[in-house]
Amino acid sequence: MSSSFATQKLNGKVAIITGGASGIGEATARKFAKHGALAVMIADVQEEKGRQVAESIGSDRCTFVKCDVTDEEQVESLVKSTVERHGQLDIMFSNAGMASKCPQDTLSFDLDAYEKLFSVNVRGVAACVKHAGRAMVDRGVRGSIICTASVLACCGSEFSIDYTMSKHAVLGLVRCASVGLGKHGIRVNCVAPGPIATPLTCGVTGLSPEELEQKFEPDFAMKKSGYLKPEHVADAVFFLASDDSKFVTGHPLAVDGGFVARNI
Ligand SMILES: NC(=O)c1ccc[n+]([C@@H]2O[C@H](COP(=O)([O-])OP(=O)(O)OC[C@H]3O[C@@H](n4cnc5c(N)ncnc54)[C@H](O)[C@@H]3O)[C@@H](O)[C@H]2O)c1
Repeated sequence: MSSSFATQKLNGKVAIITGGASGIGEATARKFAKHGALAVMIADVQEEKGRQVAESIGSDRCTFVKCDVTDEEQVESLVKSTVERHGQLDIMFSNAGMASKCPQDTLSFDLDAYEKLFSVNVRGVAACVKHAGRAMVDRGVRGSIICTASVLACCGSEFSIDYTMSKHAVLGLVRCASVGLGKHGIRVNCVAPGPIATPLTCGVTGLSPEELEQKFEPDFAMKKSGYLKPEHVADAVFFLASDDSKFVTGHPLAVDGGFVARNI
């Protein structure tokens, strides 16, 4: 489907997007609102950016909530306040994440940095899945939970060990939760994006978006198609959020232009 053609496939749906102030989360918030979502809650630690994104989407359907996903109480309260305000929660996109401090390799593995990263990329995602799942089960909502993994959930890396471990853990969580919540009619999937120029990747590499795209371009199997952008991932998240993926669960959906196929 062309990304410029707006359907109403999310008509009346209430969604939370963590890490929605930037990159993949921001693109997904715009996509959800465009396709009819009743309410999109952007949850992020970046207050100013999050408010700007919510305002630009429109305060009638998008709201910013400050939330640090490493704090379970904040996640619980985010879900609770969403349900109090809008009656239910249909979609949780647990997407907030951080990158490894570079380099994190086998011999110089910094375990303090690993714990900090795991508190966001794994603990934060587990808290979102848990509290979204509870809210859906309590109200009999057959919702969709989507997490952001990575190509690094499916292969190894030399210099981002903790990040790679965290994304393997997200895939494990998604598979377990899809089994646990499947009996309630709730689907749990993840997207597995390849490298994209966002503040996360540019910040950790020190590269400009153009430099980053040039660096990784040879690793993609797909050529002549431009470069992978946050909007491509938002398209896949939209598919997993909508009824078009009604019987898809426990699945890591690669959005990587053949990155893993080429590099394994
Ligand atoms: N950019 C890539 O190449 C790439 C590839 C695969 C997977 N991912 C994953 O995509 C997700 C989104 O990253 P992005 O590339 O859009 O980067 P980004 O930096 O544009 O967005 C990440 C967002 O998460 C927020 N965040 C970080 N810690 C948080 C916390 N504790 N609580 C709440 N919000 C928090 C940040 O403030 C930011 O707005 C991450 O999980 C990342 O690991 C990114």
